[in-house]
Order: sequence, then C-alpha cells, then structure tokens
Amino acid sequence: MPAADTDRPRPKSVDPKNKVFALIRSRATAGPLEELAAKRKNIHIVVTDMSNPRKLDEAAAEVAKVTGGSLDVLILNAGSAGPETSTLPPSAFHGREDALENEIHENIKNNLLSNIYLVNCFLGLVRNGVEKKIVFVSSQCGDVEFTRVTGLATLLGYSVSKAGMNVITTKFGAELAQEGIKTLSMSPGWVNTDAAKAVTGDPEIRKFMLNAFHKIDPTVEGPISVDESVTDQLQVIQNLTEADSGKFLTHHGNHDEWF
Ligand SMILES: NC(=O)c1ccc[n+]([C@@H]2O[C@H](COP(=O)([O-])OP(=O)(O)OC[C@H]3O[C@@H](n4cnc5c(N)ncnc54)[C@H](OP(=O)(O)O)[C@@H]3O)[C@@H](O)[C@H]2O)c1
Repeated sequence: MPAADTDRPRPKSVDPKNKVFALIRSRATAGPLEELAAKRKNIHIVVTDMSNPRKLDEAAAEVAKVTGGSLDVLILNAGSAGPETSTLPPSAFHGREDALENEIHENIKNNLLSNIYLVNCFLGLVRNGVEKKIVFVSSQCGDVEFTRVTGLATLLGYSVSKAGMNVITTKFGAELAQEGIKTLSMSPGWVNTDAAKAVTGDPEIRKFMLNAFHKIDPTVEGPISVDESVTDQLQVIQNLTEADSGKFLTHHGNHDEWF
C-alpha cells in the first residue's frame, strides 16, 4: 500500500532545526534558491568551484563553522551532459578522435573527478555526522541494462562518467563501511528540470525518448515533477542502511523502476 502523504519525507529545510547547505558555482544562476534562502534562514548558500579541491576545502570549512564540524548527509547533485558531440553514437567518432577525447574528458572532469574531490573535502565532516551518508545523484544512462534495453546509443561521455562515478561511490562505501559511513548512487527518475525541459521541449526529441523509454516501461508519459522526484529521493536516502550501502538504486529504491 502506498504511504500516506503525511508519511512522505519533506524537504529538510522545512524544519528550522535542520541546517541545509547549497553549494553552487554562481549566484547569477541561483535565483529560486536565493528566494528560498531569503525565507528560510537555515539554508546556507556557499559559492565554490567543484573542479578546485582548495576551494572545496574552503567551502567545507565554511560549512564546519556553522555546524560545529559535522555533516549528516552529503548529496552530490551537480551534473551536466555536454559537449555538443553528446548527440553522437560511438562509431561517429571514427576519424574524430580529438572530439572523442574532449567528449569523454569534459564529462569525466565535471561528473566524476569533481565529485571525488567533493567527497574527499567533506569526508571529515561526514565522519563527524550522525547519519553518515554520501549520496551521488546518478542517471539511468549510467546503467548497462537500461542502455541495452532502450537502445540509447548517444551521450557517451555523460553515460561513462555516471557509470564510473557509480563504481567510485561503491568503492567509497567499501572503504568507509567500518566507520559506519554509507554511500549510494541514485537515479532521480526522468525529471522536469531545466535540463530536461531543454531536451524534451523539442517534440521530435521527446517522441524519440518516449519510444526508447517505452521499451522499459510502456506507461511512461513524460518527466515527473521536481517535487515528486525529490520526495522519492529523500525517502530512499532516509531508508539507506549499511545493508544497501554502495548500491545503485532508482528513486523508487529498487533496480528497475527508472521512471
Ligand atoms: N532531469 C533528469 O531527468 C535527470 C535524469 C537523470 C539524472 N539527472 C541528474 O540529476 C542531477 C541534476 O540534474 P538536473 O536535471 O537538475 O539538471 P540541471 O537543470 O542542468 O541542473 C544541474 C545543476 O548542476 C549544476 N552544475 C552543472 N555542472 C556544474 C559544475 N561543473 N560545477 C558546479 N555546478 C554544476 C548546475 O549549476 P548552474 O545552475 O550554475 O548551471 C545546475 O544547478 C544531475 O546530476 C543529472 O545528471 C537528471
């Protein structure tokens, strides 16, 4: 039986006792976040550069000052699927090896290396936290079976970087298990965010994606709302135990409900 709405987790910042930190790269693109942080004084915006471990150390020190040196849950959400060659399948890179290297390197830098820096810079705080959870927001694209069944042959660098970070997340879990630290890779679903809107706004692309996704789930009609995805994700994070540490789960907390 589905849980009653009142049992569903609410965003942590709703409870003023919680301290929530949003690491961003630029205030210029953080309008809605700024508006929320103006209303909820327990939201702290920290501007940093994920590609720079020194800056991330400074960000961690800033967080530590507010929390007294601890962090319960670290969520790695930032991610991007570029560059423009991401629309190409593998064989299209024959004779375009520079473009291939760029496709792979850009994504590995942004979606994998930066996340390792982030975990390492915040690990001291997580060690001192009560929940001790590290959660990587991955993607269906990082799953071999999802790719096999949908037949989606593009987004090479993005998919490789997400699959790679899934493995790294499991390795962090293996290394840190004896300290009680739990890690998880989680697909957020197909979610109606700015990134998704940019893609599905084109009716032809939306139709193409729906055709592919219907091979997994014939009932999918389109992306779910951000609220629905985040509520589901919070539930999975809340349920995370040592027994599930290191897994790659969907926002429903299983291995096959991708939407
Ligand atoms: N939406 C979906 O259907 C879907 C499906 C599977 C997985 N995901 C994953 O879910 C996560 C959130 O995606 P989204 O759909 O919300 O995408 P989005 O609308 O493009 O938002 C991505 C966020 O990541 C930040 N970001 C990207 N690259 C960054 C970098 N190098 N340094 C710092 N911040 C960076 C962006 O910052 P700015 O605001 O400064 O640009 C933005 O806030 C991503 O990891 C994505 O791969 C999404």
